[in-house]
Amino acid sequence: MRAGERAADGSVSLQAVHCLGFCYGGPAALDGDTPCAGADLAAQLCGRAPRRAPPIPATAVAGPVLLDRQAGWRLWPQLVARADAPDLIRDQVARSGLRGRGGAGFPAARKWQAVAAEPGPRYVVANGDEGDPGSYADRLLMETYPDRVLEGLALAGLACSATAGVVYVRSEYPQALASMREAVARARADGHLGRGVHGSDVDFDVEVAQGAGSYVAGEETSLLRSLAGLRGTVRLRPPYPVQSGLFGRPTAVNNVETLSAVPAILDRGGDAYARLGRAPEAGTLLVCLNERFVRPGAYEVELGTPLSEIVYGLGGGLPPGRTLRAVQVGGPLGGFLPPGRLDLPLLASALDSAGVALGHGGIIAVDDTVPADALLAQLWRFYAAESCGACTPCREGTRRGATDPQTASADGGLLTLMATASLCPFGRSIPRAVRSLVCALAEDPP
Ligand SMILES: Cc1cc2nc3c(=O)[nH]c(=O)nc-3n(C[C@H](O)[C@H](O)[C@H](O)COP(=O)(O)O)c2cc1C
Ligand code: SF4
Repeated sequence: MRAGERAADGSVSLQAVHCLGFCYGGPAALDGDTPCAGADLAAQLCGRAPRRAPPIPATAVAGPVLLDRQAGWRLWPQLVARADAPDLIRDQVARSGLRGRGGAGFPAARKWQAVAAEPGPRYVVANGDEGDPGSYADRLLMETYPDRVLEGLALAGLACSATAGVVYVRSEYPQALASMREAVARARADGHLGRGVHGSDVDFDVEVAQGAGSYVAGEETSLLRSLAGLRGTVRLRPPYPVQSGLFGRPTAVNNVETLSAVPAILDRGGDAYARLGRAPEAGTLLVCLNERFVRPGAYEVELGTPLSEIVYGLGGGLPPGRTLRAVQVGGPLGGFLPPGRLDLPLLASALDSAGVALGHGGIIAVDDTVPADALLAQLWRFYAAESCGACTPCREGTRRGATDPQTASADGGLLTLMATASLCPFGRSIPRAVRSLVCALAEDPP
């Protein structure tokens, strides 16, 4: 049976997906809601080997903030009772320098201030769509620390004076969906959510929604359309979601990792968080390494950590006999760096100057067994499959790239058109990522 087919009796169907969040131990498959992964995946699926879904290896090198093992909901009961809580939360988060971890790097406190300044009702949304192949940080946080994700969302809600929140979890993460739903039920039972929370005048409740199974549904306007029951396509901005978001109401959309940092920031104080990282890019990030590394897994590191330290020190480089050709940083819209550029620090600004984007912090090693042409073709296939089709430069450009990757990658006119005329950062980022791959692989192997 091939991808896209189903058995004659309808008992089995097969669908190809780009990412299930198992890059540290892939290849992977979902059988119904049950994941399995490993080099013997085919044997597992045929019943010739026991099924297994290895847990994410996670190490806190800095902080820990995101991998802090303290329970959630420790600050919420006191904060809901304080009339100055919205100002206090925004002030501490502003002092911390926390910027969005979903890719755009927008200051979290400024977004909440913008929502709070609009007339209610207001909403907050935790973006757990994590479509970037190579990143599994949000899956780790939602499955392992769901109470902290929820408390972060509730604190963001308080900072915006919002009355409701939504956690949007990608459909390829059934375990994260289940753990977030259980965490909401627990929080309601413990009195953290609902009307008049902990005897205060704060009403705040949370729903968990399943994603639409598309990469672009992680883009905030597309996500909000999908939540409203519409097709997950991007819409023009302005109006921004902070003015007109969920059901046309002011809405703060924040990445799961951004929200997960908030309880620790309020616990330790914004200034303490700001001392982590390298100003003005403060704090820690969960970088995710793929299975080509000797030690794949998620590592919480300070922003500013040299890439060489992550690739060789934490990841252990590649196994003997393999040569590193390039690393992909920040997923399909991020870009590729040759080994000679690993002196760069893990900072959005430094990577941007080198022609790549930090994105959500996934790092994929490309070794000498990967044919350059196949990688380029795979990249364009991903773009064509995931383009939402709302604008012509991206829809047609990605089709051309998937049909003839070599010609499209060398077509300066096409790439410039896509970079300048596409509606959203998806189409606009493709040319840079493609160029960075062509450049990285053009360098002589070390
Ligand atoms: C094509 C595309 C896909 C995106 N996917 C995600 C995603 O999966 N998760 C996410 O948090 N942000 C994603 N974003 C960014 C969101 O639009 C938005 O900026 C982010 O959720 C805001 O949260 P933050 O400020 O905490 O980063 C995506 C953006 C684009 C253009
Ligand atoms: S750039 Fe691509 S993903 Fe973004 S709106 Fe246009 S077609 Fe959709």
